Amino acid sequence: MGFVGGMFKIIDTKRLNSQIVSWEVESGEITRHAKPGQFIVLRIDETGERIPLTIYDMDKTKKTISLIFQEVGKSTHKMGRLTTGDSILDLIGPLGHATDTRNFGSVLCVGGGVGSAPLFPIVRALIESGNDVTVVLGFKTADLIILEDRFKELFTRAGKEPKVFVTTDDGSNGTKGLVTDVMKKLMQTQKFDRGFAIGPLIMMKFAVAVFNSFGVPAIVSLNTVMVDGTGMCGGCRCTVGGQTRFVCVDGPEFEGAQVNFDELLARQNRYHRHEQHAMDLHKEHVCRLDR
Ligand code: NAD
Ligand code: FES
Repeated sequence: MGFVGGMFKIIDTKRLNSQIVSWEVESGEITRHAKPGQFIVLRIDETGERIPLTIYDMDKTKKTISLIFQEVGKSTHKMGRLTTGDSILDLIGPLGHATDTRNFGSVLCVGGGVGSAPLFPIVRALIESGNDVTVVLGFKTADLIILEDRFKELFTRAGKEPKVFVTTDDGSNGTKGLVTDVMKKLMQTQKFDRGFAIGPLIMMKFAVAVFNSFGVPAIVSLNTVMVDGTGMCGGCRCTVGGQTRFVCVDGPEFEGAQVNFDELLARQNRYHRHEQHAMDLHKEHVCRLDR
């Protein structure tokens, strides 16, 4: 582990679109130890909940990590209001196991929405290991597309033709449809040795089904609710291969074919109701202040 506790300065903030924000944060020792696939848990202040975020990029010279988050609930909306020069209270990491990015041969990497951010360092490492990598990124609409150019840059820097396919649900950019539609087309004409899928649970469930139907083993990265991040509280539990596993210490990556996605989806829906309640209270509070 790199570092626990202290104040961490945000040295750059960028709004990537109406819902997604990127931060570059001073992170001391975390930068020295972090590897693709690993994550941090942050708390912006004493009252903040603990938010797990996969490390999207890092600068070892500046000792910073880059994080990308989506404003989905009360805490992430609060995070979205912080600006360059602000500090956050706690940053713990790197946590979880690093991704296995050895040379598998031909690899298909699939990112859904903000899940494209944790996919980015994995694609970079897979290209560096000499894999023949193809990337499919899916977003609801054109204005929600993130990192397309940065993914393409990974290929051109390695002297390769970019193989990055973008889909939007409404066809406002790239191919109209879901990532799984493009996956099927690609897999009908090319043999892949390994798959990676990161994004919403429902996307990972169906992406894994497509990989399975073509006999391709696939890794998914789970992004469950976390409390302590140390394997003690059980908050991030999931069932993999019939066994209870903890995303924070056993993951975040698992063999997709072994993950019980239906159980995770049912639990996510339960948390969603609580999150909506917290958001409603939060909105009420803001309204009173505005009067
Ligand atoms: P989204 O709902 O906009 O979906 C992104 C894309 O996923 C869609 O455009 C589509 O191509 C695909 N998709 C969605 N439903 C599908 C289905 N039923 N079948 C096939 N493909 C489908 O994504 P979002 O709103 O950006 O949400 C991103 C999610 O990713 C969040 O829920 C977040 O928790 C999760 N996330 C996961 C990780 C991780 O490490 N696993 C990291 C960050 C975010
Ligand atoms: Fe508590 Fe994983 S977050 S066990």
